Amino acid sequence: MAEENIGSIEPNFSLKGKLAVITGASMGIGKEIARAFAAAGAEIIVTARTESKLIELKEDVEKDGGICHFRVNDITNISQIEELADFIREKLSEQDKDLVLVNNAGFGFTKPVLEVTKEDFDLITSTHLRGTFFCCQKIGEIMLERGYGKIINLGSTWGYTTDAKKAPYCMAKAGIAHMSRAISTEWAPNGIRINTLAPTGTVTEFTQKTWESMPERAQGILSRIKLGRFAYPSDHLGAAIFLASSASDFITGQTIYVDGGFTAAG
Ligand SMILES: NC(=O)c1ccc[n+]([C@@H]2O[C@H](COP(=O)([O-])OP(=O)(O)OC[C@H]3O[C@@H](n4cnc5c(N)ncnc54)[C@H](OP(=O)(O)O)[C@@H]3O)[C@@H](O)[C@H]2O)c1
Repeated sequence: MAEENIGSIEPNFSLKGKLAVITGASMGIGKEIARAFAAAGAEIIVTARTESKLIELKEDVEKDGGICHFRVNDITNISQIEELADFIREKLSEQDKDLVLVNNAGFGFTKPVLEVTKEDFDLITSTHLRGTFFCCQKIGEIMLERGYGKIINLGSTWGYTTDAKKAPYCMAKAGIAHMSRAISTEWAPNGIRINTLAPTGTVTEFTQKTWESMPERAQGILSRIKLGRFAYPSDHLGAAIFLASSASDFITGQTIYVDGGFTAAG
């Protein structure tokens, strides 16, 4: 278990000695978190459903001298989460490293309430709520056995404030933040820290296409981001590394908004 840095005036942001699992790492924010964690010294395990993109990421990370494993995995499938947990146990049986989990896999959609189907609702809840919960449970169990661990769940500014046509997504992201707080109270005595990193509108392949097809909506979001631009995945890396590192060891149950002032404005 990592030693606490009490009394030191040098906070430790290094991820050396960590084994970090990042879900939804085939693209977007998760991919950049994975690359940044590897650059900060973590051995990483990246997961998503698209094998070819994970292979590309592994090659990139290893070209830069990092250690990267990948698992093809759908977080809506609990037995696949269990298989991922088995793989993590196997890696930790070969070496003693602190475990970090980033529950990043997810997606969003924009639809009026009256058009949301049962399939839409089930997919958003089985991905964000059930998927995140069971990743916390199955991988958190390994942290509990080891007496230390850090979980970062991806929330959203839509988990705090809302907008028309976002009800299921807002509900799911608010659920993730509150779930994280609830788990933090249960697992803090066992050394597990769990926090939510909540981005505002962030430029990725997916959001770029969505905003191009709905320019007025994009403008509406942009007008609420007081620093005057959308976020990029790189904007989230400082907070992600902070929450994964021992520099944040006395922080649990919190939501950190990386939002250019979006939530401050309401
Ligand atoms: N971009 C934003 O504006 C924004 C703002 C706030 C919060 N967020 C949150 O940040 C996280 C990342 O978003 P992003 O914008 O980077 O998304 P993205 O570019 O669409 O990437 C999503 C990632 O999740 C994976 N994924 C989706 N469903 C999955 C499933 N069932 N099982 C396993 N992997 C799955 C995708 O890979 P495969 O398709 O290969 O499985 C992909 O790697 C999400 O939780 C999102 O809700 C994003």
